[in-house]
Amino acid sequence: MTIPDTPPVRHVLCLAGSLRRDSWNRRLLRMAAAHAPATLHLDVCDGLAAVPMFDEDLEQREPDGPAGVRSLRASIAAADGLIVATPEYNHAMPGVLKNALDWLSRESPQGEVLLEKPVAVLGASAGPWGTRLAQASLRQVLHTCGALVMPTPTLFIANAADRLDDNAAQGDTTTGQALQRFVLAFEQWLERVAPAIDAQPGLTIMH
Ligand SMILES: Cc1cc2nc3c(=O)[nH]c(=O)nc-3n(C[C@H](O)[C@H](O)[C@H](O)COP(=O)(O)O)c2cc1C
Repeated sequence: MTIPDTPPVRHVLCLAGSLRRDSWNRRLLRMAAAHAPATLHLDVCDGLAAVPMFDEDLEQREPDGPAGVRSLRASIAAADGLIVATPEYNHAMPGVLKNALDWLSRESPQGEVLLEKPVAVLGASAGPWGTRLAQASLRQVLHTCGALVMPTPTLFIANAADRLDDNAAQGDTTTGQALQRFVLAFEQWLERVAPAIDAQPGLTIMH
């Protein structure tokens, strides 16, 4: 009897750079999750709310990190990849997201969780520009943290109110198709970079 090969299911943590209850960026991630293939499980997390302001004194007092930081680090470490959807505040990513990245960039007993982590970036704004500058600033910081940022495709969602629906599975069809292409490209990116990560001594990747 032959046992059919089943493709592995990869787990991706999705983080919105917004604390707003009705965040367009969280909706965008939910919609991405609804358009992901069965081989890619997208988990939209609300981890930023529990992350305190970065402070080196606090870091020294709590070398393991505050609870919210530990929890976010653990979720990222356990995931095969990370998708970050960023709003744009004053032509950059919001401070709440940069603050979390500053914590995540630090060495810790849980490791440097962004180092060699495959990451994809996208974003939505209510206005006409679709977070171009916020995504550029986010990419710059992620590169600095050693993340393996998917170069293309890029996805800038402008006029979010016309494109994103309350119901994650719905929303505008063009946006749904773009998200489908985006998550498929990220799955290919995970396949492409995972062997390189596996080859790194001292790093254990579980699929
Ligand atoms: C402080 C602040 C600055 C903003 N700056 C920009 C900006 O530079 N460009 C832009 O397109 N939208 C800007 N916006 C509008 C945000 O894109 C909009 O509030 C968006 O809905 C936030 O994302 P969210 O819905 O995921 O929270 C700004 C909003 C705030 C609160």
